[in-house]
Amino acid sequence: MKKCCVIGIGYIGLPTAAILANNGFKVLGVDVDLDKINILKRGEVYIKEKNLEDLVKKQLLLGNLKVSNKVSKSDVFIITVPTPLAERDSTLPKPNIDYILDAALQISKVIEKGNLVILESTSPIGSTKKIAEIILKQASCSINEIHFAYCPERVLPGDTLKELISNDRVIGGLTKLASKKSKSFYQTFCKGEIHITDAKTAEMSKLSENAFRDINIAYANELSMFCQKYSIDVYELINLTNKHPRVNILSPGCGVGGHCIAIDPWFIAYADPSNTNLIKTARQVNNKKTSWILKLVENRALSIKEKIKREITIGCFGLSFKPNIDDLRESPALKITKELISKGFNVLSCEPNIKSHPDFDLRASNVIVEKSDLLVFLVAHSEFRNMNTFKKEVINVCGLKLDS
Ligand SMILES: NC(=O)c1ccc[n+]([C@@H]2O[C@H](COP(=O)([O-])OP(=O)(O)OC[C@H]3O[C@@H](n4cnc5c(N)ncnc54)[C@H](O)[C@@H]3O)[C@@H](O)[C@H]2O)c1
Repeated sequence: MKKCCVIGIGYIGLPTAAILANNGFKVLGVDVDLDKINILKRGEVYIKEKNLEDLVKKQLLLGNLKVSNKVSKSDVFIITVPTPLAERDSTLPKPNIDYILDAALQISKVIEKGNLVILESTSPIGSTKKIAEIILKQASCSINEIHFAYCPERVLPGDTLKELISNDRVIGGLTKLASKKSKSFYQTFCKGEIHITDAKTAEMSKLSENAFRDINIAYANELSMFCQKYSIDVYELINLTNKHPRVNILSPGCGVGGHCIAIDPWFIAYADPSNTNLIKTARQVNNKKTSWILKLVENRALSIKEKIKREITIGCFGLSFKPNIDDLRESPALKITKELISKGFNVLSCEPNIKSHPDFDLRASNVIVEKSDLLVFLVAHSEFRNMNTFKKEVINVCGLKLDS
């Protein structure tokens, strides 16, 4: 039975480790976060994902999946650590690849000839080559003795397990043999088609997927700000526009969040600032949409306060970065809610996908409707659909169908 080590068992690494364990591999999930290791050792799971808890528990019990904070000898190493931005507030933020370099260093201590190392973290162009250089130097091996490939992940959060199996995969080996070995490896559990290319094209394919999404969302968000000025219902407009057989405008929201689309386009822009104006502008438009909504809510809250001549309460619905998930990373809804609190408003918030949060007074949705003067729907969670808002003042920026 082949051994596989998955380094970074978060939203991508843990489901990947569980699927590999379910498909005949002896898997070691490695993470620097001891809390995560201890939770899994207790047989619990820290990520809310369809069917994940059962699969992880089963594989832990069977002993096909083990967890540790240390990498150990394996046939295959998969890197799924974060790739954030270094300077968040800069006008041209720089990618931070320290986590993948650290993972490479850990692997280099146990690597053996014939092993396969796959980078799955969304990474700037050239990252696969960089990790290979670290590992080969430490192991005193050549590129033909240890095999390196880049294979990006493109799952839909909330449906990760299904998409890990069914999506097509792009694989870019540093050598033809590395691509071939990686393809055989993914074919053990992936039912989608596997497309082979070189490492830098594979790295860029992931970045261009996310920049494409960002640009398309930016168009919907820009339309929504324009439509507000002319009192046009942007959702009706998009519905009508999409009747054109070759037009498919996405839905506007309160910005763009998550660890992917809000971050990765900067990896392209940083690498070539003078040729990436469209990509940079999309990032700016999507960020602007968040501050635009904040202003909209603030203005409405102040006018209600003036009208009823007392302090008011704002009820914010949804904190996660998209509907029906628990992921708060880069979430515009979270940012808006936090800003309203820091501006001194009384804010109650509701996030059905998380149990508690240190910064927020989380309440059930019916309590918020009852206690708030202004209801702000930020994320279209299915729990909020057709909710009775009892004729309260409403700002709905996520296109939810509500019942007034
Ligand atoms: N979440 C998604 O939907 C998604 C989709 C496609 C691609 N990606 C990419 O996959 C990568 C991982 O994303 P994620 O959402 O799983 O992140 P995550 O933060 O949920 O998980 C990463 C894990 O790596 C651990 N870690 C950090 N440094 C480590 C190290 N040196 N050694 C071992 N563990 C370490 C962290 O503690 C964390 O648990 C990122 O590059 C991301 O852009 C994510």
